[in-house]
Amino acid sequence: MQIRRLTEADEEVMRRQFTEAFGAFDPPEPPVPLFVEGKRWWGAEVDGRIVATALDREYASWFGGVRVPTAGIGGVTVAPEHRGAGLLRPLFTAVLAEARDRGALVSTLYATAPALYRRFGFETISSLDDVRLPTHPLAGGGSTPVRRATSADDQAIRAVHDRAAARENGPLARTGPLFTESPTLRVSGVSVAERDGEVVGYVSWDRGRGYGAEGELLVGQLMADDADALRSLLSLLSTFASVTPTVRIRTSGVPSWQHLLRAAHPETVSSAPYALAVLDPGALALPRVHPGIDTRLPFSVDGRSLTLAVADGSGHVEPTGTTTGGRTFTRGGLALTFAGAATSATLRSLGHVEGDTADDVTWDLLFTRGPVTVHDYF
Ligand SMILES: CC(C)(COP(=O)(O)OP(=O)(O)OC[C@H]1O[C@@H](n2cnc3c(N)ncnc32)[C@H](O)[C@@H]1OP(=O)(O)O)[C@@H](O)C(=O)NCCC(=O)NCCS
Repeated sequence: MQIRRLTEADEEVMRRQFTEAFGAFDPPEPPVPLFVEGKRWWGAEVDGRIVATALDREYASWFGGVRVPTAGIGGVTVAPEHRGAGLLRPLFTAVLAEARDRGALVSTLYATAPALYRRFGFETISSLDDVRLPTHPLAGGGSTPVRRATSADDQAIRAVHDRAAARENGPLARTGPLFTESPTLRVSGVSVAERDGEVVGYVSWDRGRGYGAEGELLVGQLMADDADALRSLLSLLSTFASVTPTVRIRTSGVPSWQHLLRAAHPETVSSAPYALAVLDPGALALPRVHPGIDTRLPFSVDGRSLTLAVADGSGHVEPTGTTTGGRTFTRGGLALTFAGAATSATLRSLGHVEGDTADDVTWDLLFTRGPVTVHDYF
């Protein structure tokens, strides 16, 4: 068995493998290329045949106000005759080690089953949800003018997304080689809210089929800089009420627009769990911290003794040498802590953190920063 990078020469067998794993699907139009900058495909070859695949995507995620280099894993397949033979471990070991070498500090993925990836340190930190709600009650005023976006708005739309993502924990930054496609490309329309010549919000929508009781408007993104722009965009969606009695919105956590609704609660129709693993404990030093916090937090993970040192608004992780107390993380516990997805008390109850409790309040102060969200499926 050999683990190696895949190339264009492997494309035919890869496509067959994906269809066998995930089922037949209508190919997207225009087609999504497999081999482009920012995508690194890996495979396991047995007797000269590719029988397992995995993809590392070069992303960055917003956590605690900074962009964290991220390996987004997808395309994980094992040919049916080779399942249960333990191919995933050597494949993942190679993919994650290479991702670390190219600078990724964390890795994320959408898991079909959490147990598959838990042994590599991945824990569920959030979910990408489709929620449904009646169209009519979305009307909520708003005085920001709206207009249809053109490809000239691409940068402005991405900028609105990034300003919103930077306020949250977890979303991908829509920058880098994998976000060069126009946001207006694969949808019926994108409407922008514009004030004083500046795009301050946008909603991307797909009209779908039908205009009777079953008509549903699909909303991929709904983001804005402020409440008035959000209200204008919600009001725009409400005008579809006569032809699409319901709206289905792709979202995560409790989105900003939900705080503006006056009636109707979103009902979750589907939910894709999103998991994260820390590839380098140095990631713990990245998120912004209050300049008044001055502390040293010893910890160990994977048999390494380290210290998170925080002072003057920034931090670094250094080797401690010998174990000098502090807490011990499982890899999953480190993932949940980095993401701010669980408190120390919860992690201890699950066996993800053990040892000295003296620093629990400080760990929680540094890392518990509100719900984790995600906006892109991959
Ligand atoms: C998921 C898939 C890649 C697993 O391949 P595999 O060859 O069984 O993986 P491995 O033998 O290397 O390891 C599987 C381990 O995960 C466990 N596992 C496998 N499938 C699982 C599932 N659906 N739920 C929970 N655990 C699972 C196995 O019990 C085994 O654990 P063990 O080592 O403790 O015994 C393969 O079944 C597949 O291609 N499925 C269809 C596509 C898919 O679901 N891809 C994942 C997308 S996120």
